[in-house]
Amino acid sequence: MKIQQQVSLKGYNTFGIDAIARYFVAIHTVEELREALRLQEYPEKIILGGGSNMLITGDLDALVLHINLKGIHVTQEDADEVVVRAMAGENWHNLVLWTLEKGYGGLENLSLIPGNTGTAPIQNIGAYGVELKDCFESCEALEVASSQIVSFSKEDCLFGYRDSFFKNEGKGRYILTSVSMRLTKRDHTLHTAYGDIGAELLRQGIQEPTIHEVSNAVVAIRKSKLPDPEELGNSGSFFKNPVLNAADFKAFQKEHPGVPFYKISDHSYKVPAGWLIEQCGFKGRRFGDAGVHAKQALVLVNYGTATGGEILQLAQMIQEEVHRRFHIAITPEVNIIS
Ligand code: EPU
Repeated sequence: MKIQQQVSLKGYNTFGIDAIARYFVAIHTVEELREALRLQEYPEKIILGGGSNMLITGDLDALVLHINLKGIHVTQEDADEVVVRAMAGENWHNLVLWTLEKGYGGLENLSLIPGNTGTAPIQNIGAYGVELKDCFESCEALEVASSQIVSFSKEDCLFGYRDSFFKNEGKGRYILTSVSMRLTKRDHTLHTAYGDIGAELLRQGIQEPTIHEVSNAVVAIRKSKLPDPEELGNSGSFFKNPVLNAADFKAFQKEHPGVPFYKISDHSYKVPAGWLIEQCGFKGRRFGDAGVHAKQALVLVNYGTATGGEILQLAQMIQEEVHRRFHIAITPEVNIIS
């Protein structure tokens, strides 16, 4: 275990923010993780996974632990299903490709989501009508207080929309080490009802898609709308889509008949924050090197040298304008690290 000093985190966060970690260590085993947590001389410790869901707003006067635990294995199998266990440091999309190569169904709609496997349950990552919780079996995490590995069932994780136990009561108390997913070997349940997927499959002339074809369609849609972090720094959706109760939504819809929405239940409706932001005129706008993506207003981008503070300032300006114009509060989906 080698502790480095003054390490630029530019390559470790998908926003490409050039913040400096005073101390930095790559963690390859659970034992190394325990050892690093025991280091008394570095009282401030920050956990870094794939860096895909964070905005670093300044240099970090702390020891940054970069979780690099690797490995993907089948841990249970019968004629119909498998349980696949992936270590937290595995790149999420590589894991999806691994499962597709083996012919296992379940993760295809979650193709090309940036980040590492260990972050997936924290956010309950989701796209195109599927969330991680749909095939989640269990996960393991190191409890910081006891240094013991604790196992969490789906119920323990309290999954919600981009939300889980680990973002709330569990925050700062556990470090995810592995995630297990239950996947299908045959008779896969395909989720192609989400508008964009159906249209993309139709465009490709595919009527009875395979899991690979669904994955390819998702990849094509994501590539057409969402910027590749390798080319343009970003963290996916910056804000969550706000949820309105039925009465507020109906009143809002009366005033804005064109508003797109997802009905969650008879009592609540999700309004796309991307639409609200676009209506406020931010789509495609640029303030120095901080900007709002031209094809998806929910995505904030770093054109090169924006600081985390500049991105945060833009985010706050957007929140204020959306609130002034629509009286709706939008909140960040990404973790703001300062
Ligand atoms: N829209 C606009 N203008 C925009 C962007 C969107 O009017 O600039 C409208 C679209 O026309 C559409 C609606 O908003 O009617 C929804 O847009 P989209 O399908 O692109 O999805 P989203 O609600 O903006 C969510 C997730 C994405 C996920 C997509 C697809 C959140 C916060 N974001 O975005 O997740 O890929 O659905 O399932 O829930 C992420 O979390 O980082 C992420 C990219």
